[in-house]
Amino acid sequence: MPRWGIVGTGDISDRVVADLLDISGEINGVWGRTAERADAFASRHGIPFATSDRSALLGRDDIDAVYIATPADTHTAITLEALDGGLHVLVEKPITTSAADAEMLFARAAQADRFLMEAMWMRFNPLHVELIQRITGGELGAIRSVRASFGTPFFPRPGKARPEDGGSILRDRGIYPVTLAHWFLGDPDAVTARGVISDGIDLAGHATLDHSGGAFAQLSWSGTEFLDLSAAVSGERGWITIDPMFWAGSTARVHAGTAERIFRAPERVEHPRVGNGYGPMLEAVTAAIDSGLREHPWHDAATTISITRTLDRILVDISSPSL
Ligand SMILES: NC(=O)c1ccc[n+]([C@@H]2O[C@H](COP(=O)([O-])OP(=O)(O)OC[C@H]3O[C@@H](n4cnc5c(N)ncnc54)[C@H](OP(=O)(O)O)[C@@H]3O)[C@@H](O)[C@H]2O)c1
Repeated sequence: MPRWGIVGTGDISDRVVADLLDISGEINGVWGRTAERADAFASRHGIPFATSDRSALLGRDDIDAVYIATPADTHTAITLEALDGGLHVLVEKPITTSAADAEMLFARAAQADRFLMEAMWMRFNPLHVELIQRITGGELGAIRSVRASFGTPFFPRPGKARPEDGGSILRDRGIYPVTLAHWFLGDPDAVTARGVISDGIDLAGHATLDHSGGAFAQLSWSGTEFLDLSAAVSGERGWITIDPMFWAGSTARVHAGTAERIFRAPERVEHPRVGNGYGPMLEAVTAAIDSGLREHPWHDAATTISITRTLDRILVDISSPSL
């Protein structure tokens, strides 16, 4: 089992660390921007070492892996520090703020012979694991479209996600619909997107991703208003609706099989959430590191880079002055 260090003491670190302790993860240190916040986090979770000096955490010989949960624009530099220190890395989404940086990080991880993964917990959620198996197994026939949206009017929050922190709502929330679309349709051939930009930060957007042969994804995300928080994947033989909040979903309805199932009584699939929902990802990462893997096959370098490239393409289109 890797021995963990934690970088960042925000809400998400609290939730992930609670789940890591629940799966008997060993956490030997935490870094926070101030000694006070690092100490408070350590005492909340019973972590034996706390520091505001990142090199003091990354250089410890009782730490094998770090979980990084700081703002997006700090991920590249901190991931490099950790890899250079010989550590495995699980870094929050988005892994970086450009596909070029994502490529560079995975190349550096390969050079350093260390594990690296973006913490895309949705991919490990038991509901999504079952749906992916069933969809790729052909239950819906060929997949023709994906629809997904994630919008809540809580962004930007005071002191959070400023443009200088890489605070793009696309990279923060839109990454979930884009990732879902990539699972079933892969890299798009064409990207058309529109959005709202204020003071250099994208606050809302929507995109159509087109694929040769006519398959498509219609995706939207927002930090300024509600958008339906469900998603749907449709194919030649039926469709699946993932109930809100689709990225962290515990229920879905499968409209496939008989006419009764398709039109009147879809099968309900349920996987109740355990803890805060990060346990399955943390177990998978632990097992991957223990077995010497350097990427996780469910969210590997190629997938992460291609999703990040699609995010880049969407942002370019949103930023174009055509509207
Ligand atoms: N998987 C999920 O469900 C989920 C949910 C939420 C967020 N996230 C991801 O988690 C990451 C952190 O998001 P968040 O909303 O938790 O951020 P946050 O609360 O603003 O910051 C998290 C931590 O980073 C520190 N920090 C702030 N600015 C920093 C900087 N310039 N350099 C180094 N550290 C800095 C904060 O220190 P202070 O306490 O001193 O400010 C805090 O310890 C993001 O990548 C986000 O996308 C994931």
